[in-house]
Amino acid sequence: MDTFRPPAESWTTADGAQVDERGIRDIIDRAKRETRVDFKYDGAFFTPRLRGINHLEVGRSRIISSPLAIILEWLYLQFTRLRDGMQRLSEWLFPRHDRLWCDHVDSHLVGRVIHADRRGDGAPIHNLHVEFWGRTWIGTWRKLAVGRTDRDGNFRLPFDLRQARRISLRHLYFEVHTTTRVYFDADTPRLHFDLWVRQPVPKSDLIGMDYNLRTLQLDFWCYREDAPAPRARVNAEGTAPEHYSHGREDAMMQQIIPIELTKLKHLEQITLAPGTLTIDQIQKDYPENLTTCIEKYLPGYTRGDDWFGERMMNGMNRGYFQPDPEAQGSYWIRYFGKCWYDSNEVYAMPDVDIRFTLKDDGLPRPSEIRLTGRLSAHDHDPWATRSYTPMDGASWTHAKRVARVAGAFNTEVEEHFAGTHLNTEQFAVACYRNLRLNPVAALLMPHLKEVSILDHTADRTLIGGYIPSAAALTEKGLQQRTRDILGVLDWKGWRPMTPISPAHSCARAEALFWDVVSTYVEDFFADRAAEIREHWYEVYRFSEDLVTHSVPVAFTAPGDRPPEGENWAALARRRLDYYRGQYCFDPSLDRPVIDGQPRALSRITAAQSFDAAGPEDWDNLKQACRYAIMQATYMHTWINEHQYDDLGEVFYSCGGLRFGTKPDGIMAPESDLEIALDLVRATQMLFFTNLLSRTEYGFITRNEEGDVNPRFARALESRRDAFRLLGVDIDAIESRTNI
Ligand SMILES: [Fe+2]
Repeated sequence: MDTFRPPAESWTTADGAQVDERGIRDIIDRAKRETRVDFKYDGAFFTPRLRGINHLEVGRSRIISSPLAIILEWLYLQFTRLRDGMQRLSEWLFPRHDRLWCDHVDSHLVGRVIHADRRGDGAPIHNLHVEFWGRTWIGTWRKLAVGRTDRDGNFRLPFDLRQARRISLRHLYFEVHTTTRVYFDADTPRLHFDLWVRQPVPKSDLIGMDYNLRTLQLDFWCYREDAPAPRARVNAEGTAPEHYSHGREDAMMQQIIPIELTKLKHLEQITLAPGTLTIDQIQKDYPENLTTCIEKYLPGYTRGDDWFGERMMNGMNRGYFQPDPEAQGSYWIRYFGKCWYDSNEVYAMPDVDIRFTLKDDGLPRPSEIRLTGRLSAHDHDPWATRSYTPMDGASWTHAKRVARVAGAFNTEVEEHFAGTHLNTEQFAVACYRNLRLNPVAALLMPHLKEVSILDHTADRTLIGGYIPSAAALTEKGLQQRTRDILGVLDWKGWRPMTPISPAHSCARAEALFWDVVSTYVEDFFADRAAEIREHWYEVYRFSEDLVTHSVPVAFTAPGDRPPEGENWAALARRRLDYYRGQYCFDPSLDRPVIDGQPRALSRITAAQSFDAAGPEDWDNLKQACRYAIMQATYMHTWINEHQYDDLGEVFYSCGGLRFGTKPDGIMAPESDLEIALDLVRATQMLFFTNLLSRTEYGFITRNEEGDVNPRFARALESRRDAFRLLGVDIDAIESRTNI
């Protein structure tokens, strides 16, 4: 329960009673409790099921519902279980012992391992664990050699030619193993290795001296060459270079089915008899959200100024309040509209500037909203600015809705997808490519896993699916916009938002979590300092991959610049000025230049060994780790968890308002269905916000998979009460970005 209490204002409840500030707060707290939806899915044999996260779709996901399909699916499941069981039986019958079958070395297995790419000259893969095995006619294994690749990806495995050519051996295999998961045994991390590639070696070709496997191109955590951002190359099925844990898949399966079926029912009804469905009906079919629940008790409250200010500050948007240099005590939240991005003509998306002053209780009160850009289909001036104040009656209410919608779009696309998903993915790819012997792998991997394959699904379902159909930007526009946001994200200099008042609980909780992460990372580095320094080369390569693949600083590269003209240049300056505060980005820092372009991510180290490292490099590495963990855990959780609160009522907020045909365009009441989402987009929006907010899995304190360092969980646990006083339940904070 919050310690903070809003001011004494009265409101009329649905029963006609007057409630004061205390009563309003009680109702809000009650609504928060009531809308904590927890899906229970105790599916019986013939109940529908989803094949997995990779099969999610904007329209009809691959739900299996016909009895025949369910039986076939069941048979296939039994087959895979039998196959896996046979595999485990084989491993039990024929264990792979550590004994090395080598009396004297007289031959070598040599070769080189690089990342696969189109030109065949991918980066070498260092410190890769490689083994040489023989298998006898009866199935037992004999380890013939073991080793590791060097910095250039070369390996040279010494082996005993006589042992390798023994008649008892039927097959020989060269194997590459990689770290895939980290688990914790008490406080000690255990790295889990998995076989990545097994390549047969013809026994007859071993004739003495060296046997050269030449250059092996591994499809191992490769960067996409066609993406506008640093992205992992994911296979067509979305299952490699990593896969979801069984627990994550099962949790998804249990939680998603009810809302998937609701969406399917709506889509079917819209196809067959669209006149029989309304947005109100769609809304009722989904679980009640925070705003609809509050409206049930306090009609009109969520459209009022108090709620507007409170949610802009402490809701999903967690808005950045930029001090007004010309008016002491005034702040601006700015949401940028279509800008110069590729957009459609269906949805409006003006720039929105909201001026706030603080009430006595520290919560913001909106005093002015400026909308710049086209507000209707009849309006063709992208630079016209209209200003609204609370004195403007209905127009003020409409302007607040436009502001909420702009805030939702910006929060989802910029803060959520670019700021946490894509941002985390760039750290994930660099981490999995380079960190193997360095303990930093154990620090980062639990928080970076699964984001790459999830983003791959989001490319299709959200960026290339739902959002372009329900908001102003096209897929191309969204890709460019998220690239530009990555262009103002850097680990260097990042810090949590500064609270502007005691009521700024969102910022205060953020600072508290940053403190937890900092404590955890400091302790980890103190404990493992010697090993981290010993394997500094991996840090160097991690840093190089981050920097080399980082996008250029926003708006600097030729393809990223705003169009010619002073208006566009001024808009770009305003955006950079705001982002400087919002993302703590300092464009004046001396940044690495790659291919003539300054890169957004700062270099952690330029030294290949710790002895040659600069005086700041040790702290750089700690700060980069803190930053990556913070974005992947708390920053993602905040938005994700609040999506259904603030984006779970179609008329209250959504990703875009349509121009419609009337002269006033989007400056119209909620009852104007011309500007609201259509029926298809309405059910899809509620499906997505439900899905993303309610199917979380992988929490720090619950540690479902044993992959969270208990020290991290304890550091969080020790601040449970402090978080609770700020309205944050630490049991709801996720350890990774996996939805
Ligand atoms: Fe997410």
